Amino acid sequence: MRSAPFTLLLSAFLCAIGCSDGGDGGAGGTGGQGATGGTGGATGGTTSTSTGGTDASTSATGSATGSTSASTGDATSSTGDATSSTSGTGGTGGGMAVRTPAASASTLREAGEKANPPILIGAAISGGGLNNGDYKRVAAAEHSYVTAENEMKWDALEPNPGQFSWGAADNIVNWARSNNMKVKGHTLVWHNQLPGWANSLSGATQVEQAIRRHIENVMGHFKDRIDTWDVVNEAVITNSDTGVGNPRMRPSVFFNALGERFIDLAFQIAREQDPNAKLYYNDYSIDALNDKADFVYEMIKGMVERGVPIDGVGFQMHIGPPNNEAGGADVAANLRRFADLGLEVLISEMDINRCSNQVTAEEQLEYYHDIVEACFVMPECTAITFWGINDGRSWLNSWSGALCNGQSSQSLLFNDQYQKKETYNKVMDALMGR
Ligand code: XIL
Repeated sequence: MRSAPFTLLLSAFLCAIGCSDGGDGGAGGTGGQGATGGTGGATGGTTSTSTGGTDASTSATGSATGSTSASTGDATSSTGDATSSTSGTGGTGGGMAVRTPAASASTLREAGEKANPPILIGAAISGGGLNNGDYKRVAAAEHSYVTAENEMKWDALEPNPGQFSWGAADNIVNWARSNNMKVKGHTLVWHNQLPGWANSLSGATQVEQAIRRHIENVMGHFKDRIDTWDVVNEAVITNSDTGVGNPRMRPSVFFNALGERFIDLAFQIAREQDPNAKLYYNDYSIDALNDKADFVYEMIKGMVERGVPIDGVGFQMHIGPPNNEAGGADVAANLRRFADLGLEVLISEMDINRCSNQVTAEEQLEYYHDIVEACFVMPECTAITFWGINDGRSWLNSWSGALCNGQSSQSLLFNDQYQKKETYNKVMDALMGR
């Protein structure tokens, strides 16, 4: 347990370098939690470390970002503040640190790398895409962060119980590393794209053992190559995919056997595997202020208060049918409240679907600019990942829920010839503080 004077000193220091008010400060209060499910001494140790560490990681995030920008950040914060106030992204906490844009940049990647503090610019990469020269060129030139679109899901990695298949995932990870790109593991525990055998497990013991074996093997295999993970994906549903109506835990093989504690358990196992990895919860239609975002906020707040080792939340940012629409100001307010829990926030799977014209061309440009800006100005927002490279390969084109019926969703930053679209320019503007 940390002593009060240390906490006070720490917050005084953070505020001196330009911090938010640190939220309600209640997060660190709980002294370890009742063990979540018999994970033994190691878990206890991890848990109590991270209980202290929840605040510590708040501070660590704050001070890490703060300290990179400590001198310049404050010196330039008038510019930054001016930028953020025009867009209304000031959110709930005035006077907080802002990210400073690069002075010049010719790619999204460079804009992210030269910002202060830097921000990762990511893309979902598919094994198929890497067979195409243009795809590879654009992907590596414009991005510094990679998420495997499908190749690291449970069905791809563990098609049979305890039998792992690494080839397709290794291919993407090795390509990324040879281009100096960081990789996020996606995703350890998700109800979708599960192999049949996993979906038909039953009973708490079987399911817990399967989760443990999967996380240990997957994180173990990529240990020296991947240090950011989507640990749990999409554990919450509402009546509508837009995030509205009766938010609740999603029935799944995991929830049905273990109840909500499967989430804590997955994070604790992941932390045992890698004490330094960044561990994220990821979900869709929690981008704006809606029922699902409120529910997930309370869920995550509870995890932080219990000392569950979570480092951040990924907001998928699939905008347009069948998911939510979200304006920049709403996204800013929503990201801010999660960041005030002491967490990183990330835009993790952004695309804006134009099918059925539910989102007009003008709205799409405005959303791309304002949503990217909402993340960019916040030092706690550490990455912006787009869900694909070019329109022709977007998953939305063929997914029935997206209402495209095989037409192009026109949802990304590059057209079928890998040329930059107006959406690219809007994203670049936002990254450059314009
Ligand atoms: C999608 C892929 O893009 C598709 O190719 C696949 O058929 C289905 O999954 N949320 C997620 C991603 O977390 O993993 C999903 O990716 C899109 C929604």
